[in-house]
Amino acid sequence: MQRTYIKDLKDWVGKEVTISGWVDVRRDHGKLIFIDLRDVSGKVQMVALPNHTEAHAAASLVRSEWVLAVKGIVNKRPERMIKEGLNGDVEIEITGVTVLNEAQTPPFDVMSNGHEIGEDIRLHHRYLDLRRTRLQTNIKLRHKIISLVRNHLSEKDFLEIETPILTKSTPEGARDYVVPSRLYHGKFYALPQSPQQYKQLLMVAGFEKYFQIARCFRDEDTRGDRQPEFTQMDMEMSFVTQEDVMQINEELLVRIVETLFPEKKIQQLPFPRMTYKEAMDKYGSDRPDIRTDKNDPNLLAFCWVIDFPFFEKTDEGGWTFTHNPFSMPQPAHEQWLMNKENIGEILTTQYDVVLNGFEIGGGSIRNHKASGLKTVFEIMGFPEERIQNNFGHMLEALAFGAPPHGGMAWGLDRLVTLLTNEPNIREVIAFPKTGEARDLMMESPSALEEKQLKELNLKI
Ligand code: AMO
Repeated sequence: MQRTYIKDLKDWVGKEVTISGWVDVRRDHGKLIFIDLRDVSGKVQMVALPNHTEAHAAASLVRSEWVLAVKGIVNKRPERMIKEGLNGDVEIEITGVTVLNEAQTPPFDVMSNGHEIGEDIRLHHRYLDLRRTRLQTNIKLRHKIISLVRNHLSEKDFLEIETPILTKSTPEGARDYVVPSRLYHGKFYALPQSPQQYKQLLMVAGFEKYFQIARCFRDEDTRGDRQPEFTQMDMEMSFVTQEDVMQINEELLVRIVETLFPEKKIQQLPFPRMTYKEAMDKYGSDRPDIRTDKNDPNLLAFCWVIDFPFFEKTDEGGWTFTHNPFSMPQPAHEQWLMNKENIGEILTTQYDVVLNGFEIGGGSIRNHKASGLKTVFEIMGFPEERIQNNFGHMLEALAFGAPPHGGMAWGLDRLVTLLTNEPNIREVIAFPKTGEARDLMMESPSALEEKQLKELNLKI
């Protein structure tokens, strides 16, 4: 018999069905054995009666987390018996049990919300941890957000284009993860910190509207809102102003909240804007938490922070960029950049979007002229050779008719964390790394075989 999903049982009252899933709990009352079965769509209570001898005997053997296919009759439950959390008002009278797989006793409770369990053991057995309703819900919501983004941007003629994971190490802010090359000993690929350069090159290529649900890699210290690999909703557009990019991102964020989180309230629409200086003066932070009521879990206080300084002083007394080197200064300050004057006062077209005190995204209008980009590196004191080594490909591309362009990227994991009211980013990622950047389940990072090291010409 074909398998029926638990969520659909209400349509099968009075009929015999087969359902498949995991044993949530079994309660043995001697004559009556109750089993709650769980599949991806829900949970249902089943009962084995002594008159179905074989099924009753089989049911008496099963344990939590065993995998079963159960044949049974769908019965309506009396009104007063309807149980919270189980599939509505039906229960299954078991007529046959097939054990598809047994299970060892799980090392922790998979039915609780899991907050009380040590995180190391949860991550070690993440496939079990993910069975709990809270994480199932988070991962499903994450999927819904991503599909809404894909639909919304596709409707607006954006193309989703994949960009390489094996790329080149360039100084972009964070530390790179690097991959040794077997064919070119002593040379390394780098994993992308973001698709920034590729998306700009796609604008040079004439695609005009790009987006990607993109994996990014940064070798930095992990925190509650940071992972060594994380996901961005990354986008870029040609022939746009700062205002255009901010508008389209704000519209998409609002649509996500209104469609998927109707219980939540956006504090202020359109999102309020403040300059970097205002944010620092008033809140002492460039990601201000402007919530009027910090006890309300359903309040979403979005705001934009704009007018960031382009450069800041390094410890050695030189200059470095505050966000990334590719941004355009504000129109009124373009000349300062080109003349290398008033460097500390130059403001960029950078815009960050902040939610409840977390930076959930940022972007800018880019410098689409090679001379402008080159000047940024000169201000940072890069010698000509280093500029060419690191960014020669960008300067070359911009010289072939690069259109004006700009874009933005959201930290998707951070956004999902805030929308699901989770305490940290690991609760919304299927297989996160620990705070010490380890994968406890795969035991990664791990040592290599001597043979692999040899092939790569590496000595440890
Ligand atoms: P930025 O570096 O600001 O910009 O990154 C964009 C957003 O990504 C999120 N984020 C992270 N999330 C989890 N773990 C991390 N380690 C992590 N690092 C960053 C933040 C951040 O706002 N290419 C530019 C975007 C652009 O200009 O279009 C970029 O990557 O929410």
